[in-house]
Amino acid sequence: MTTRPRRPTTAGRNYSPLRSAVILTLSFLLPLLWHAYSDRLSEINVPALWRRSEGVVGESSLNATSPAPVFANQQTEDAARMLQDLRRDSGKWNSNHPRYRLLNSLKAYLRYGEERTADLDTWRKRYKKLSREQRSNLERTVGYTNKLNTVEALMIKNSGLAEDILSYGLKFYGVARLELDEFVEDTKNETNKQKGNTLYAVKHFVRDWSNEGLYERQTTYPCVLDAVRKEFPATSPSTPAKILVPGSGLGRLGHEIAALGDFEVTMNEFSYSMNIAYHYITTLSSVNASAIHPYIDWWSHRATTADLTRSVSFPDNISILSQPSISLIEGEFTTALKPHLGTYDALVSHFFIDTATNILTYLETIHAMLKPGGVWINFGPLLYGSMPTLQLSLDEVIAMAESLGFELEQPGEGCGRVMGFDSRVRGAHVPYAHDEESLNRNAYLAQHWVARKKK
Ligand SMILES: C[S@@+](CC[C@H](N)C(=O)[O-])C[C@H]1O[C@@H](n2cnc3c(N)ncnc32)[C@H](O)[C@@H]1O
Repeated sequence: MTTRPRRPTTAGRNYSPLRSAVILTLSFLLPLLWHAYSDRLSEINVPALWRRSEGVVGESSLNATSPAPVFANQQTEDAARMLQDLRRDSGKWNSNHPRYRLLNSLKAYLRYGEERTADLDTWRKRYKKLSREQRSNLERTVGYTNKLNTVEALMIKNSGLAEDILSYGLKFYGVARLELDEFVEDTKNETNKQKGNTLYAVKHFVRDWSNEGLYERQTTYPCVLDAVRKEFPATSPSTPAKILVPGSGLGRLGHEIAALGDFEVTMNEFSYSMNIAYHYITTLSSVNASAIHPYIDWWSHRATTADLTRSVSFPDNISILSQPSISLIEGEFTTALKPHLGTYDALVSHFFIDTATNILTYLETIHAMLKPGGVWINFGPLLYGSMPTLQLSLDEVIAMAESLGFELEQPGEGCGRVMGFDSRVRGAHVPYAHDEESLNRNAYLAQHWVARKKK
């Protein structure tokens, strides 16, 4: 029989009186230190302090309990604004506060292994309910306990990756481990809504940064990249085109656009689970430096157990990953980018517009972000989620875009078939979260258009 591997340590803790006293004292001191530091922001030469390319990871004027924030490739003022928003005393302290959301996402990475193996315990308990005869037949024939043990070992491997992501996340955002531990303790009775988001983010390693994700990327990227190339045939280092990519996820499309040439790409992403994972990926410096077993959490639609347990390595391409002309603005699309209104030559929305609660506000923001004459390149489905206040059909989305001052153009022929109601809109059959070995296929007839903001 296979030996059961060591389980990850639990995050729920019983503190000794001494440790509690230390935590109490530091929890009082840390906010003071943090405020003292944040207040100095305007005086600090931010680029010199925060650009990772200058080799300053971990250097800080703070003490060891509060690591330095590291803002890789992040523009100075945007980074300062983000730090300001992350201050506990900036705005109301509740589950919508940026720091609360950040801590919740860090907590989800901390708990990743523990929660996965808890799922496995449930599956073990259910298996034990089978009759003795059935179990002994299963053990003899397929070695079901072995499979459970193998998956448990791989979950522990995945949780090692989650720990690495967490460590870098703490360092990147300048959050002390002590603060996270306290947050975990304070919120132990709350359901963490970030749990699912963390799983989702980690699975995007496959979509964005692995060879396995190539099949999926090839169904949409060529169309989008061709549209960008066609719109900007004559950029130069002194006149780069400014491109905004909202809802950038783990960033592959933004990096691909930057790699086209003289483009200054700004990505925007709301989810800290995504952003923490993205920052981790940017630390990797060789092809396939990291790996994950992305399919072990869901056992449906499997031809073989080997497919279920296989690993996927990432990143598949270092030169795309290390594109220099990229920045990430963290926060909600309709509010975080306000200082940049009217400054972009193009906005590329890829599997994004249907994430809106109010899609009309998204359309207005897209319009407002562009320069007059700027171009909006869209590719994605209309899968409304997150309790939308408005659910428009495609023809209504197009009509509303036109009413706001967009003019649709003829998109490239390689972008799917013409949609019946409007020849300027195309639809392409594209997979999402595709797994070549799975017996299940998830796909959309995703829509593509190119629309210009009237001058
Ligand atoms: C369906 S995913 C697509 C990600 C990426 N564009 C891709 O194609 O892989 C949508 C992304 O938009 C992000 N998102 C959702 N609402 C957002 C908002 N209001 N502002 C910024 N990002 C948002 C989500 O966190 C998620 O990463």
